[in-house]
Amino acid sequence: MNIELRHIHKRFGPVHANNDISIMLNEGRIIGVLGENGAGKSTLMKILSGYQPADSGEIVIDGQTASFTGPRGALTQGIGMLQQDPLDVGAFTVLENFTFRLDSLFLPNRRVAKQQLRAANARFGFALDPEALISSLSIAQRQQLEIVRLLSLGVKVLILDEPTTGISAEQKVALFDALRHLAREDNLIVLLVSHKLEDVIELCDEVFVLRAGQMVGRRAMPTTPADLVTMMFGQALEVKQPEAVSLGSPVLQLAGAAMHDSRLSIADINLEILAGEVIGLAGLEGSGQEMFMRACAGLHPLDAGSIQVDQRALSRHNYRAFMDAGVFFGAAGRVEEGLIAGLTLAEHMALVMDRRPVVDWPRARSKMDTQITQYNIRGRSSDFIEQLSGGNQQRVLMALLPEAPALLVLEQPTRGLDVESAQWVWTQILARRRTGTAVVFSSSDLEEIVAYSDRIIVFYAGRLHEISDTSQLTIDALGHFIGGEFSAT
Ligand SMILES: Nc1ncnc2c1ncn2[C@@H]1O[C@H](COP(=O)(O)OP(=O)(O)OP(=O)(O)O)[C@@H](O)[C@H]1O
Ligand SMILES: [Mg+2]
Repeated sequence: MNIELRHIHKRFGPVHANNDISIMLNEGRIIGVLGENGAGKSTLMKILSGYQPADSGEIVIDGQTASFTGPRGALTQGIGMLQQDPLDVGAFTVLENFTFRLDSLFLPNRRVAKQQLRAANARFGFALDPEALISSLSIAQRQQLEIVRLLSLGVKVLILDEPTTGISAEQKVALFDALRHLAREDNLIVLLVSHKLEDVIELCDEVFVLRAGQMVGRRAMPTTPADLVTMMFGQALEVKQPEAVSLGSPVLQLAGAAMHDSRLSIADINLEILAGEVIGLAGLEGSGQEMFMRACAGLHPLDAGSIQVDQRALSRHNYRAFMDAGVFFGAAGRVEEGLIAGLTLAEHMALVMDRRPVVDWPRARSKMDTQITQYNIRGRSSDFIEQLSGGNQQRVLMALLPEAPALLVLEQPTRGLDVESAQWVWTQILARRRTGTAVVFSSSDLEEIVAYSDRIIVFYAGRLHEISDTSQLTIDALGHFIGGEFSAT
């Protein structure tokens, strides 16, 4: 099966999200769709998979113009897309979910379904337990389940939108292996949307590059990262090294602090973070760093010990008191936690402006307009936050940051961002550091941790390991620590 997109156009108000895009997709190929935040990648994929209609243009399947409406229609034509956060139905088991979501195409048959799941486990090295609850699955396992489900529905085109965000390096290896099988052996078209160059270079046979809604280039692989970056941004980027700053007095002090959640407990944390210092937190997802960061921002209680911000004892206080002391928390799930779906940008600004009984709307709007210009946000203050692309949402979050916070606690501040946007976010963070803000951040990108941290704390199963001299640290050594091998210190 071959698919051709011809002259696809899609506008959202003033934004020309897809501007005359034509591409040919051939079976048996893994095709990368690359582009910076807001380039129009997700829009194009939603059009192809029926989640969104194009304003104009054609989808031609094996020479025939297709006319499907909705994702179900696309599925019957063999086109399936893996949603970014699939399957939020926690109360069901894997098997139930699998059979239910086969929908009416055939009757739920537990035995057949179980066999299909086992076959997929054997073939792709997936680890799907039919009896496990969906709520207990990792993001990677949810992806695996969704892939198996789409395959059982007979898809010939499998679209994955940013599938490596939020999964570990090993899980990525398993996912990519499965995708290679599907293209090479089953002749599927695999479309990988990403702005991670290394993913595209590792996996894809060819790559299309989008920029500001337009198709700006196409390459057969292999090619160099520099070549792709040049197409994405129009010029090659230079990596900036953070300048040294002199550190000030302690901003955050933890003494004998202990905390727990349903999965693990951390005991006896003694730590001082100085003004201007950047502390990177490394570790596999769920190793305790998420809870630790929330505790630093007053969002998770201490079981024992004390926490001070600027010499103020805050152990028994809530997030408001931490905010008043100058602590700002930026959550990884931007729209889930940091930003609020259903609110406009101006309304977000009103939320963080000084608390008065009556909101000064004209001021909130004009303040947001100023920030939109200054932070180069593609959106208007009357837009709802969910209308913005991921990168632009992150810019809004940064635009809402106070000018000179005492402490920034940032969970994966560059997750899902392209190179240029990630650098921009760091420019913002480092600018505040220069004026004495202390920064605690987490990342699953080890290079980012090594590049920006004055000190690193590795979390492993609730244990903390501090690396105070990062000058000689290699990515490889950090990887060993993260895996729980501390003996090599
Ligand atoms: N439902 C919508 N309403 C209004 N504007 C939208 C909508 N969906 C996308 N846009 C706009 O269209 C443009 C392209 O967005 P799209 O989500 O396709 O980008 P993307 O390349 O997937 O970016 P990212 O890497 O950030 O996910 C952006 O400017 C975005 O704000
Ligand atoms: Mg996208």
